[in-house]
Amino acid sequence: MSQDTVSIKNNTSGEEAEFPLLKGSLGTPTVDIGTLNKNLGIFTYDQGFVSTASCKSDITFIDGNKGILLYRGYPIEQLAKHSSFLEVSYLLMNGELPNKDELFSFTDEINHHTMLHEALSGFFGGFHYDAHPMAMMVGVVGSLSAFYHGELNMEDPEHRRISAMRMLAKMPTIAAACYRHSVGWPNVYPRLDLGYCENFLNMMFSLPSQKYIEKDNYIDPITVKALNLLFILHADHEQNASTSTVRLASSTGANPYACIAAGISALWGPAHGGANEAVLSMLAQIGTVDKIPEYIAKAKDKNDPFRLMGFGHRVYKNFDPRATIIRETCYEVLERFPTDDPLFELALALEEYALKDEYFIEKKLYPNVDFYSGIIYRALKIPENMFTVMFVIARTAGWVSHWLEMMSDPTQRIGRPRQLYTGYANRDYVPTDARK
Ligand code: SDX
Repeated sequence: MSQDTVSIKNNTSGEEAEFPLLKGSLGTPTVDIGTLNKNLGIFTYDQGFVSTASCKSDITFIDGNKGILLYRGYPIEQLAKHSSFLEVSYLLMNGELPNKDELFSFTDEINHHTMLHEALSGFFGGFHYDAHPMAMMVGVVGSLSAFYHGELNMEDPEHRRISAMRMLAKMPTIAAACYRHSVGWPNVYPRLDLGYCENFLNMMFSLPSQKYIEKDNYIDPITVKALNLLFILHADHEQNASTSTVRLASSTGANPYACIAAGISALWGPAHGGANEAVLSMLAQIGTVDKIPEYIAKAKDKNDPFRLMGFGHRVYKNFDPRATIIRETCYEVLERFPTDDPLFELALALEEYALKDEYFIEKKLYPNVDFYSGIIYRALKIPENMFTVMFVIARTAGWVSHWLEMMSDPTQRIGRPRQLYTGYANRDYVPTDARK
């Protein structure tokens, strides 16, 4: 069967060439423009990569118009209903759901890698007590590359696999240690007898002498169920900014722990994973329900930098399927942990107002996953500055899966984009004393 192609003609020079049209198993076809510069002497320009595919991947598929999200072909709705975060992590990393024995071995191996090198635990003491936990995450995860470096052979699939397992296993331990440092509490070691989410909650909130008191029982089944769900929904999202950062950093062959630290840095931004924390700050800024119209007007005002955090998405233009799933859990958590916190009422009123507003409807700006996740984390008594850290724990599954995929691709090349140069043309140096 002949290859489908796309013709590109430079109407200025009259030159024209054909380029292969690549079709995936699902989604938008892509034109392979790798030889564009060679054939037509031009580059493409696509600020923010709105129409540019950076790689081929089997991991996650998103259809932004239909609100479809598949992890290795499985609909997110089914995984959210039936699976666990570790089972989904296995799926993303290995391409298939594990059988009972595979899941047991995977879980057991993860549990045995949750500990940190004791010297690493000392790193936290170097941070001021009020350091943002995301700053600590970037630093401490990056420093794992100092503990796992020399013996690492990235050509060896087993070295790659164990590196990915270590990152998935240690992220909750590091995350909990960031929180414990910020409140001046001693670290709590991970336990082999607790599940992934239970272990995290125990490392976060348990006190040495504390007995579980019903009302304070932080390993509540609803809490664990909500965390599992939130981690599943945040596990991967194809080539988002932080995953693309991990891929670009990894394309140079850099230490994998350093590359994941680069992904954490990218995720921190309020336009990306930092949005969940920014949603709560925005709600606090709005203050009361009667102020909503004023802030909606600000969000619509082109001269006002204010944006409605937790709304809009580069890909989803009708609804974020994760938001739809999370919304139900939001109500379940608020019912289990009733609160008179006015922020919850304000959030739901803001959602209702924005969904009816012409501007948001016309611009296709709907609540995204970050709008609701922050509300749930707050109800679970996770501090606001830890919200994006929670996103890191979950997205580590996606980051290491994309890392494994690209590192096993023999055609993988270093990522090195070009540019449209808009600076000065050639000019001569002028001695300092001759300058005006
Ligand atoms: C995540 O990529 C992923 O998959 C990310 C993520 C993942 O799982 O990895 O899904 C996680 O990052 C979710 C998004 C979290 N961010 C926020 O909630 C921050 C608020 N949202 C916006 O900053 C924005 O919507 C983005 C960053 C999410 C998307 O930005 P785009 O695609 O570049 O869209 P844009 O900025 O070009 O906006 C298009 C129009 C603009 O108006 P015009 O210039 O066309 O007149 O919509 C407006 C924007 O001004 N707009 C908003 C808005 N978002 C877009 N106006 C008000 N409030 C907003 N939130």
